[in-house]
Amino acid sequence: MTHGRPSSRGTLESIRAALASATDAQHAMTRAVELLKDEMPQYAWVGIYLLEGNALVLGPFRGKPSPHTTIPLGRGICGAAATARATIIVDDVNNDPRYLACSIDTQSEIVVPIMRAGRVLGEIDIDSDLRAAFGPDDRSLLEAVATLLSEKL
Ligand code: SME
Repeated sequence: MTHGRPSSRGTLESIRAALASATDAQHAMTRAVELLKDEMPQYAWVGIYLLEGNALVLGPFRGKPSPHTTIPLGRGICGAAATARATIIVDDVNNDPRYLACSIDTQSEIVVPIMRAGRVLGEIDIDSDLRAAFGPDDRSLLEAVATLLSEKL
């Protein structure tokens, strides 16, 4: 484990075990969100959006309620990641014109698409109150969780 960072490997194993026994997609998404929020202290808001037509619709989340429960594909960092079909990390949301504010405390954000056979099913969205909170370990953890979730959706 890198000094001062929580164990993303331990978190991935907790999520892998929880998803193996998840009974349905809703249960799987809820457990993944809960474990990420509980085990990664710098994750202030954790949610999953599902792609429905041309919009991302908020599913299970932990953190303060978001005003953005439906996001059109062309909007926000969420919409950009789904359109690009790639992870987006924003170190300073206040300097990104795409950013749709959820909380005034948010400083950085990561959005990771959940894909199957090249098609976007949804995405994991995480906000932090710390500037530049998301690095390579977070990207690896969350892309692995997205792969696990894609098998459950
Ligand atoms: N910040 C996101 C919107 C979702 S809230 O953070 C929960 C965006 O810019 O797409």
